[in-house]
Amino acid sequence: MTDRIDTAWNTLGSLPQKTLQQLFEQDGRVEALSGRIEWSSEEGSSGILFDWSKTHLSDDLLDGFETLAGACDFTSKRAALLAGEHINVTEDRAATHTAERGVGAEPAVEEAVALHARMRLLVEAIHQGALGEVNHLIHIGIGGSALGPALAVDALTRDLKLVDVHVVSNIDGVALEQAFDACDPATTMVAVASKTFTTIETMTNAQSALKWLADNGVSDPSGRVVALTASPEKAVEWGVDETRILPFAESVGGRYSIWSSIGFPVALAVGWDEFEAMLAGARAVDEHFRDNDGRDNLCLRAAFADQYYTRLRGCQTRAVFAYDERLGLFPDYLQQLEMESNGKRVLTDGSPVTGPTAPITWGGVGTDAQHAVFQLLHQGTHLIPVDFIASIAPGDALDPAHHAILLTNCFAQGAALMAGGNMAGDGKDPARAFPGDRPSATMLCDDLDATTLGALIAFHEHRVFANAVLMGINPFDQFGVELGKKMAKDIEAGGAEFDASTTALLAKAGLG
Ligand code: F6P
Repeated sequence: MTDRIDTAWNTLGSLPQKTLQQLFEQDGRVEALSGRIEWSSEEGSSGILFDWSKTHLSDDLLDGFETLAGACDFTSKRAALLAGEHINVTEDRAATHTAERGVGAEPAVEEAVALHARMRLLVEAIHQGALGEVNHLIHIGIGGSALGPALAVDALTRDLKLVDVHVVSNIDGVALEQAFDACDPATTMVAVASKTFTTIETMTNAQSALKWLADNGVSDPSGRVVALTASPEKAVEWGVDETRILPFAESVGGRYSIWSSIGFPVALAVGWDEFEAMLAGARAVDEHFRDNDGRDNLCLRAAFADQYYTRLRGCQTRAVFAYDERLGLFPDYLQQLEMESNGKRVLTDGSPVTGPTAPITWGGVGTDAQHAVFQLLHQGTHLIPVDFIASIAPGDALDPAHHAILLTNCFAQGAALMAGGNMAGDGKDPARAFPGDRPSATMLCDDLDATTLGALIAFHEHRVFANAVLMGINPFDQFGVELGKKMAKDIEAGGAEFDASTTALLAKAGLG
């Protein structure tokens, strides 16, 4: 198999590189490299257009990457993922996030359905006032237990907010104090979201939130806590009543957990139907991912381009710009999904990788980013593939000029990156010259609602998985975060020896 993989990479590396302009000389390029994932609801059919035509993918490259996917056993690895096999080999676990959306092995789907039913009961009981007046939720979690909720709550609560949600992740007390300032303790609930229920930031913040409730006249602070966790026994030990513990499966990874009870703040903020709509959007992508092969599989096609830029063109970063204020947190969310999943240095068998793994994901919101970082994209010395995300339907009710300017800017950036040109009249001023031939992909949503958000997130989950298969790595563990945590504990415990710089810093801060 390794031979076949090496051969496939050698073939890919030997293909002539064409410029985007040359590639666009071929008729039908846009149609060939654009595809939609669609779903239908009571309002009709809707979807997202994935236009990868402004990347350097050519027919030859697509053929070569399809051969690589074959050599990497992509179809059987995808089948293993969906069948609930223990593909997370280092932790000997399955990765069952798709089962949360109803796609996967029957036992995992059944478990997810039962846990969702339990979550729905609690969400609806709170909405109906069974736990008294609840106007605010302080959701405490970090990493995958915070980034998904923060993104979804921010994206979906612009027009509808049944409960005011504040996501707090940082151990820096400033973050928690900010949430306290915005909430009335008499009508506030606290969600403690932690897969392991041991994360120091989360448990410390949760303790302080309980104290804040008690200090502010709440007679039974523990009665205001909901635990979202894959370790329910730890939540019980910590003092949460079993009726307010919403478990999720151990096989759902932290950064893949927005679909599980970690999505509780989303359901509380926008209602159960909207949460289910998010799951439905993800399911539409799961089905697309399961049922399409080669270049017709849009998640795999995106991974082909990702691998091309990272391995064959040496790109060290990929930028993502959401031309939609509601997706302001999407780049943050993607950073964990992509970098924690695929920022690895060994293959699944433990041997060292022979090429680069995940690039650095970064990005921001358009049009703001145009006035800050796009200079480097257009004229800098780094080649940076860019993803644009936008919605045809506006999120605002102001003069349509706002949305028209937003979208035209988005499309103009992609066109300018590709075409290049010279801003000087005579074309002779090098400082005003744009080399062009810089790639971008565009994800154009019909609308940005809960279903679309679910679809966008699931698309990226599968894109990450497809990249991992093509690189031969395990995207579902994250041992790289452990060493720093251990050292922090050692410092706290005292007595451990550190390098001279760290020792001096600790002494300076009065911690040595
Ligand atoms: O430190 C990294 C990490 O383990 C992430 O993978 C995870 O999402 C985050 O910490 C939070 O973990 P937990 O949900 O167990 O508190």
